[in-house]
Amino acid sequence: MPSLNPVTLISSSPHRPVSSVSHRLRQGVTGMLAMFQHVDDSPAKAFLDPETYTLYANMSKADRAHSLRVYQRLLAQGHDDTDLLTAALLHDNGKSATHLRVWQRSLKVLLKGLSPQRWQVLSRSAEPGTWRYPFYILQTHPLRGSHFAEQVGCSERTVWLICQHENDPDPACANHALLQALQDADAVS
Ligand SMILES: [Fe+2]
Ligand SMILES: [Fe+2]
Repeated sequence: MPSLNPVTLISSSPHRPVSSVSHRLRQGVTGMLAMFQHVDDSPAKAFLDPETYTLYANMSKADRAHSLRVYQRLLAQGHDDTDLLTAALLHDNGKSATHLRVWQRSLKVLLKGLSPQRWQVLSRSAEPGTWRYPFYILQTHPLRGSHFAEQVGCSERTVWLICQHENDPDPACANHALLQALQDADAVS
């Protein structure tokens, strides 16, 4: 009988293995520590135009620090595509719609990785101020963030990358390689 890979048993997506879940949880702890650390926003300020920078600046310290790590990782890998690098800095801007606590972010990672159906129930549509609203924002932040990016004049490709950054990439899509690069850097930053 062939051996069963525990990763395949409990992971719903090839892009979200168990190691990725534990890494995402560590990201949560890093995010919590970011509250007490200085974030040097100067690379984002130098790269983004003033209107686009306001979207970046609206994000929490933890999300700005994370976005900068994604941006710098892509740069270090030799990526120079302006649309991709802009999406790196802005992909999580939709999270700024509400204050997200570390435990809420961590619960999303756990449920999406281990029990996607429960995550769907928890993150369904909710009104601002309700206890489920942060989960609704976590679920919808790619689409929400892509709308904000469109409003400040980001390119169609950047808007698309932000919108798709938590979906499984379609290899047939023309921008598949860019989305994969963004997702890979996002997963480990
Ligand atoms: Fe995201
Ligand atoms: Fe992210």
